[in-house]
Amino acid sequence: MARRKIVAGNWKMNKTPSEAVALVNELKPLVANEEVDVVFCVPAIDIIPAMQAAEGSNICIGAENMYYEEKGAYTGEIAPAMLVDAGVKYVIIGHSERREYFAETDETVNAKVLKAFEHSLTPIICCGESLTQREQGITIDWIRQQIKIAFLNVTADQAKTAVVAYEPIWAIGTGKTATTQQAQEVCAAIRACIREIYDDATAEAIRIQYGGSVNAKTAPELFAQPDIDGGLVGGASLKAEFGDIVNYNK
Ligand code: G3P
Repeated sequence: MARRKIVAGNWKMNKTPSEAVALVNELKPLVANEEVDVVFCVPAIDIIPAMQAAEGSNICIGAENMYYEEKGAYTGEIAPAMLVDAGVKYVIIGHSERREYFAETDETVNAKVLKAFEHSLTPIICCGESLTQREQGITIDWIRQQIKIAFLNVTADQAKTAVVAYEPIWAIGTGKTATTQQAQEVCAAIRACIREIYDDATAEAIRIQYGGSVNAKTAPELFAQPDIDGGLVGGASLKAEFGDIVNYNK
């Protein structure tokens, strides 16, 4: 069974609500591709206006983060039920920027992943190594550990619907895309790790994205790799180029 590609934009901390509407309107005609799932993960305050602007198109609006508690005294946080009520289907969990600047750990990532599934949200679970780890030759061990903890207590049926984003930290926002071989090697290792934890069917169903300076030039070769099922795109998702990335196969 061929996996459906998923190309997601991660807007990070960019675009006010009115700018978000303008960007969705600009990109709407450019990202029409019925063979690919297209997701725009946007800042929480942009979710509702972006969703209204995207109505009737193939764009699915996602969130960039959520908390792992249901509700209560957690000033500044967004609860999973709030995302669901707003119509969100996808949520990025454990982006390296959240791990670096907001003290997220493999354990909080696991708690959020479990909570996302509890609410029928699809997590886009991020993992990735630093440049030092790559140079030390411990990339695969590191990624396997991140994956094993992220999927603790996740059932096979849930894991089948998950998305994993492999984002080498040294390639994020640096203009340095991992080589196709580097990206494929790690994505294959992630799939092998899922196979070990679960079974063949789960490993074949789960979708694995590459992220890190993806652009219109690098996307076609990256997305053609056997274990790369699309991309998580930062900078290039904020401009018309995102249309070419989504239409990598045209
Ligand atoms: O989540 C996407 C990401 O971190 C990559 O960002 O700007 O290198 O495409 P960028």
